[in-house]
Amino acid sequence: MSDTSPTNPLRAGMRMQRTPEPCTVVIFGATGDLTHRKLVPALYNLQRERLLPPGFSVVGFARRDWSDDFFRDSLLKDAKEFSRSGIDPNLWGSFAEGMSYIQASFDDPAGYAALAVRLRELDEQRGASGNRLFYLSTPPESYATIIQQLGAAGLARSPGNGWTRIIIEKPFGRDLTSARALNAEVHNVFDEQQVYRIDHYLGKETVQNILVFRFANGIFEPLWDRRYVDHVQITVAETVGLEGRGGYYEHAGAMRDMVQNHLMQLLTLTAMEPPIGYRADAVRDEKVKVLRAIRPMPPEQVDQHTVRGQYGPGTVAGQAVPGYREEPGVAADSMTETYVALRFFIDNWRWAGVPFLLRTGKRLPKRVSEIAIQFRSAPLMLFDDGPLSDIEPNVLAMQVQPDEGITLRFDSKVPGQANQIRPVTMDFRYNAAFGVESPEAYERLLLDAMLGDSTLFTRSDEVEASWSLITPIHQGWAQDAPPPFPNYEAGTWGPKAADMLLGKEWRSWRRL
Ligand SMILES: NC(=O)c1ccc[n+]([C@@H]2O[C@H](COP(=O)([O-])OP(=O)(O)OC[C@H]3O[C@@H](n4cnc5c(N)ncnc54)[C@H](OP(=O)(O)O)[C@@H]3O)[C@@H](O)[C@H]2O)c1
Repeated sequence: MSDTSPTNPLRAGMRMQRTPEPCTVVIFGATGDLTHRKLVPALYNLQRERLLPPGFSVVGFARRDWSDDFFRDSLLKDAKEFSRSGIDPNLWGSFAEGMSYIQASFDDPAGYAALAVRLRELDEQRGASGNRLFYLSTPPESYATIIQQLGAAGLARSPGNGWTRIIIEKPFGRDLTSARALNAEVHNVFDEQQVYRIDHYLGKETVQNILVFRFANGIFEPLWDRRYVDHVQITVAETVGLEGRGGYYEHAGAMRDMVQNHLMQLLTLTAMEPPIGYRADAVRDEKVKVLRAIRPMPPEQVDQHTVRGQYGPGTVAGQAVPGYREEPGVAADSMTETYVALRFFIDNWRWAGVPFLLRTGKRLPKRVSEIAIQFRSAPLMLFDDGPLSDIEPNVLAMQVQPDEGITLRFDSKVPGQANQIRPVTMDFRYNAAFGVESPEAYERLLLDAMLGDSTLFTRSDEVEASWSLITPIHQGWAQDAPPPFPNYEAGTWGPKAADMLLGKEWRSWRRL
């Protein structure tokens, strides 16, 4: 018998492998990049692993004048390139049987009427029983229109006992006001329980493992607080530049593109209290509590706690690359930040006084995402007369990507007659330990949404709490004198000024 006692809350809520009920996934924006590169390859891999229900169907909805056959062919062409398992033609054949396409503009009620007819047909012909998952893979400006149209067409509720859910892509708003307005639009039509705001970082195995690591092991949690932790560093570093997304990025910047969502997710999972169970609302309640405990930054203090940067020309991986302002779609005098470092304090009993240092940037020397818990040093130096500062403090680094794993750094005696001390590491690597490839984040998230499990999705209060921390930073930046952009060379670790956030002379940003 499995242990589901209340003393084992994490295990109590962990679910066994399940297959969703028959359903139809409707993708708005089905001719777009995300659908082709991520969503359909993810659905195909779920099918390959027999995790999709019989009679599963996909309806694509977009503006281009495509036939059903053209739609399937277009998806197949990209799935061959982007599916992590390649494509088996027979399996693709049965998967593609359930695919069809509706051509309409998002603001055209006739498109939704046609969709309603198609969904009823699929209910009857493929046994979907009124179960529908809408996926908004569209420009964010279209979210409200689609939601209103779904409501007006009577598609927000399923016939009979079926369920209707909606996945909303990031970004969810561009500041607190717009996020609130979008939440209000959503709630005019859908109940919060129907809504799945996606942050694909939460679909990554390593990100989910933060909670397992913390709460399925007894030995780490007692150290996980202000008594033992000196500070926490969260890094999401990219080597790439804009990859043709200049138009989008110019209006977003690193703060909206990365910090408000991915880095804040990593922070909340690292800092949250143990939930009372591994259930959607229990986990999300604790994440929201962390966000509410973060000390807000008044706009006039923003320059003390944040550093922003923009890359100039430089060299990444031996290749000369242009500066941000020379990228297509970017203004020659752009003030968009491509790098942010910032310091948060979480004013609760666990974390009072412990800086959480976050940094992210484009065109940095290495692609790496990690959370590093830096512990306090030993209280005094016993060995030889060397200063305590010669000893490197213990670090527990959880690497989210690539080389997914966990490393603990500690100090060890170098063999020999002298008491020489050097840091060494204990390493866990996913690949070596399990020998299986991790599923793509979108596979896990699509499956969870079909199963009705919203643990790994962002709740409305969570997204607003996050924006309520980020928006004053944008306001502070707008008041400050403009920074001297570009202020870091592509291929370096960002502006030197980020060092001032570290606060104490023995702290330094990790060399990754
Ligand atoms: N691409 C990524 O890797 C990625 C990663 C994370 C998040 N996202 C988010 O995912 C969403 C989609 O991104 P994407 O890169 O796939 O965008 P995209 O390539 O520009 O695709 C947009 C889709 O929306 C459709 N569309 C736009 N306006 C329409 C209208 N008025 N009526 C009907 N269809 C319309 C387009 O159809 P037509 O082309 O047929 O007009 C196309 O299918 C965005 O919110 C983005 O922020 C994307």
